[in-house]
Amino acid sequence: MAILCAIGAAAVVRRLFALGGTPAGSSTPFASLDANFTAKARMTLLHIVPSLLFVLLVPLQFISSLRQRYPRVHRITGRLIMGLGVVAGASALWLSASPVGGIAEGTATALFGTFFLFSLGKAWWHIRNRRVELHREWVTRMTAIALGVATTRPIMAVFFATSALTGLTPEQFFGPAMWLGFGSTYLAGEVWIRYSRPQMAMNRGTHR
Ligand code: HEM
Repeated sequence: MAILCAIGAAAVVRRLFALGGTPAGSSTPFASLDANFTAKARMTLLHIVPSLLFVLLVPLQFISSLRQRYPRVHRITGRLIMGLGVVAGASALWLSASPVGGIAEGTATALFGTFFLFSLGKAWWHIRNRRVELHREWVTRMTAIALGVATTRPIMAVFFATSALTGLTPEQFFGPAMWLGFGSTYLAGEVWIRYSRPQMAMNRGTHR
């Protein structure tokens, strides 16, 4: 989780610098991509600033010693993360309408963005009703979906590095990279939820 959060944060920092100004006439492989995001800078910022805060804060919620020692901090940070998640998720859906990778990317981000918001809602609803176990599962699911974005980065790096050989452009490979990144990280989250479920139930002495 820490590695994926670091990758996500690095992606945001890079995008913030690029939005700050790509030199005119720049011909790096990223120049047309950068121009694309600069054209929708406001919505991109509305998406990436909350996303950055989300990945910086969310790992803290998973540290059990912090949760036990400072439950009030856990609750306050949790509310903040949910607020950030709503903004990041809603803006992701808006950005999904006209993504670089066309329909292949848009369908992946719209599907996982919707599932992210749904998981966030379920996590909130369960903790409101004091169902801690189910809250933990839905928060884990929500986090795994969001971190799928970070998994797409090394996948995209491979596509970029091999583009001279494959002839694939970002418009062509962003879609497959999103499906692979989001899909694999979501599945890893599901495996973890199922693997840790009996242990958690034993620790709490409760059953679902
Ligand atoms: C539910 C989770 C998320 C979804 C569905 C999502 C979706 C999207 C979409 C659709 C775009 C526009 C892409 C395009 O136009 O081709 C985008 C851009 C971006 N997202 Fe997200 N996002 C999510 C979470 C995150 C997180 C957690 C981070 C990092 C902390 C992040 C960082 C970025 C960055 C940096 C961009 C700007 C484009 C770039 O530099 O590659 N996103 N996102």
